[in-house]
Amino acid sequence: MWCCELKALILAGGYATRLRPLSYALPKLLFPVCGRPVLERTIEHLSSFGVDEAILAVNYLADQLREHFGEEYHGVKIRYSLEPTPLGTGGPIAFARRYYESERLLAMNGDILAEIDLGAMSRLHESNEALATVALHEVDDPTPFGVVRLDERSKIREFVEKPKLADAPSRLVNAGAYLLEPGAVDRIPKGRKVIIEREVFPALAGEGRLSGYVHSGTWFDIGNISDFRNANFTLLESEASGKAIVGKDAQISKSAKLDFPAIVGDHATVEDGAILGPLTIVGRRARVRRNARVARSILFDDSEIGSESSVEGAVIGNSATIGGGVVIHRGSVIAGHAYIHDKVRLAHDVYVHPYKEVDEDIASPGHVV
Ligand code: GTP
Repeated sequence: MWCCELKALILAGGYATRLRPLSYALPKLLFPVCGRPVLERTIEHLSSFGVDEAILAVNYLADQLREHFGEEYHGVKIRYSLEPTPLGTGGPIAFARRYYESERLLAMNGDILAEIDLGAMSRLHESNEALATVALHEVDDPTPFGVVRLDERSKIREFVEKPKLADAPSRLVNAGAYLLEPGAVDRIPKGRKVIIEREVFPALAGEGRLSGYVHSGTWFDIGNISDFRNANFTLLESEASGKAIVGKDAQISKSAKLDFPAIVGDHATVEDGAILGPLTIVGRRARVRRNARVARSILFDDSEIGSESSVEGAVIGNSATIGGGVVIHRGSVIAGHAYIHDKVRLAHDVYVHPYKEVDEDIASPGHVV
């Protein structure tokens, strides 16, 4: 699938406010999708097209990303461009210029999961002699996105950010990946925060130098908790349809029961009598203790569900500990390193912040601790 010599710049520095409280302790790009951080999946996809260098534009929780990916991941050299302050979606591209200077660049949001055909996108970009080409995806509700009007030659004629439904020129939205010629990067104001979708793309569209490549395959945005769950469960249903995927060195007791689809990550443990699934993802090194019951839930790496506990429709953050005999109802989100004491019962939609300890029942739905 090799297509072209391309460097990629991945925007990885946002605060991810819509994923709080999970994102207080974990950068969005390390959020797992079916048991693996979204950015691992992205880098592997880029590598399959011959991208051999990725620049991570980092800021918030940068150290965790650096620790996870190091200098190289999956044969791709990783560089880090650390902004002194968050520069938005365009500023980081100009700020990191020293890493790619006068080459064509693939810039992308790190919080999307998209198997874009970079070869086809590059061919369209070249045949249109575009300064920039935006990957597009058709969605039912375009209002939270940048929406385009595309002409018959795949040139974007209009680029409207987050329009009202009545004003949306189509249902084709910015999928969060762009090919940029140096001439497009020159158009990004330097030294300040820039939202490329507002300050650069509409102007390029007006000049007929912006192309749109329609990507009709897999595409997920994991920007909020509902979309994050949807990405996990939709992919789980396709990757583990009618089966359970069990990772390397995972230990599953013979008396445990797995309802499909389910994923149990590398080195995870599922003890005697535990019942997992349907629609359950157990992260790497996570532990599900004796007789625990977990359904429609996402357990991040290193989390633990105590014996006899029941977890339904929840997200359990990295290294969070759920004691024994705990009951967690649908919609609850327990952030990383939190600790829920034995026998505590949580109402639905309870949010627990990182490192918090909860030692008594929470009966009011939607409560934030
Ligand atoms: P919200 O606060 O929930 O909107 O999330 P966010 O801060 O991540 O913003 P958004 O979803 O718009 O970001 C899209 C992509 O750009 C994500 O991969 C972010 O990590 C990244 N991003 C957003 N703002 C910045 C920034 O100021 N600097 C860098 N380097 N990346 C950013």
